[in-house]
Amino acid sequence: MHYSPQMNQTILDALSRQFSVFHQTLNQRDVASKQLEPLAIEFPEQGMSFKKLDQFIETSVQPSLSASNGGRYWGFVTGGANPVATYADWLVTTFNQNVSKGGDSVASAIEQQTLTWLCELFQLPQKFKGIFTTGATAANLLAAFTARQYAGQQQGIDVAKSGMKYLEVSIFSATPHASMVKSLGLAGFGQDNWQAISCNTDEESMNVVALEKALMKCSAHSKIVIASAATVTGTDYDDLIAISALCKKYNAWLHVDAAFGIFERLISGTEGKTKGIEHADSITLDCHKWLNVPYDCGVFLTKHLPLLQACCEVTAPYLAGSESDIPFMSLGIENSRRFRAFPVWATLMAYGRNGVRENIKANIHQAGILATWLNESDKFVLIKPCELNVVLFKPNLAMLNLSSDECIAKLNESGQVFLTPGSWQGQPIIRAALSNWSTTDDDVQIVINALNNL
Ligand SMILES: Cc1ncc(COP(=O)(O)O)c(C=O)c1O
Repeated sequence: MHYSPQMNQTILDALSRQFSVFHQTLNQRDVASKQLEPLAIEFPEQGMSFKKLDQFIETSVQPSLSASNGGRYWGFVTGGANPVATYADWLVTTFNQNVSKGGDSVASAIEQQTLTWLCELFQLPQKFKGIFTTGATAANLLAAFTARQYAGQQQGIDVAKSGMKYLEVSIFSATPHASMVKSLGLAGFGQDNWQAISCNTDEESMNVVALEKALMKCSAHSKIVIASAATVTGTDYDDLIAISALCKKYNAWLHVDAAFGIFERLISGTEGKTKGIEHADSITLDCHKWLNVPYDCGVFLTKHLPLLQACCEVTAPYLAGSESDIPFMSLGIENSRRFRAFPVWATLMAYGRNGVRENIKANIHQAGILATWLNESDKFVLIKPCELNVVLFKPNLAMLNLSSDECIAKLNESGQVFLTPGSWQGQPIIRAALSNWSTTDDDVQIVINALNNL
């Protein structure tokens, strides 16, 4: 191997240059790259020099990347990597700690501290404990595992040990995220094996009267309710006070998928849209969304850590540890784990509650500017008032002879913005989700111009 520790300075210089080039071109490049072809390069039998590799990346890889880290990538729910978190993420790789069982470094304690801080950030009771995951999907999977273990406990079955053959459980939800449905499949419940509760009129939020009827009628021994805060399209929040009261009454487990919606708690506080989330048995949230840390970084929180541990416990003589805290490898999917908490810890240190709140406020304000323009434009129809960071709209066919999908294709082709489709009450629509710390009001104006030029 022709690489040696003496190369560190060369590598840092190259990193610094690649970083500058990428950031200088971020706002000029097409938001969605048009170069999607695989690189014409053979499998290297003989490795190449670092200099050549670095040049190849700069000339052949960088230019074909998207500007998903920039201010006008409004597809899905995409956060950017804030500068401090980017720096911390580089350090994570430099330090290369394995945060699996602790006992050899301060990394596990920092992960614990960061989880505690997230509870403080969102004013959640410190009874919530958990683990960093690769994202909200993995957090939702841990939620499905933990709820399954709870159902087993109610029925005298240790599901982790004996399986779920005799488990009797019904699952209720109104508008679960696709990743939650995927998780139900992965956890063995089945992707289709949940009862759809009707939604409130013109919303994706759960109708609590319908939920109570379903819970009352349900004869299964155990019940799991999956609530949303907020839904990925309509940004609708379930009534968590009413739902948690019903879960208590009917002995049901309550999981809340709050991947990005929990950040609204920094705006309207504990009495706002997320009121009642503190009564959940478990919560999913995503830091690579509105906290703007690099991929991949989600969080699973639960008030029932022993149940999570029962699902994920790993025992082997060579893994034995002496620490009193539960090792993270017994709380999550992986044994070996990246020091994923560190960019979050650094972000909270550098921005504080107020700095994080300012980013959230700015995106909500910018989404509002776009929604106001769309509402006044005769080319588009605003689907619903924008109350958070996602704007839903469609073309006004009387003025614009394009379908929603055709609008998205043309806008993405323009390189000015990247948007993804959605569905509202069965009709195809366009979604613009703003969750990047670096988005400016000027970015919104650039996109408005692109929309106006259709
Ligand atoms: C409500 C909700 N849950 C889960 C997810 C999945 O998140 P991830 O892609 O981080 O796994 C998303 C992504 O947008 C989401 O909005």
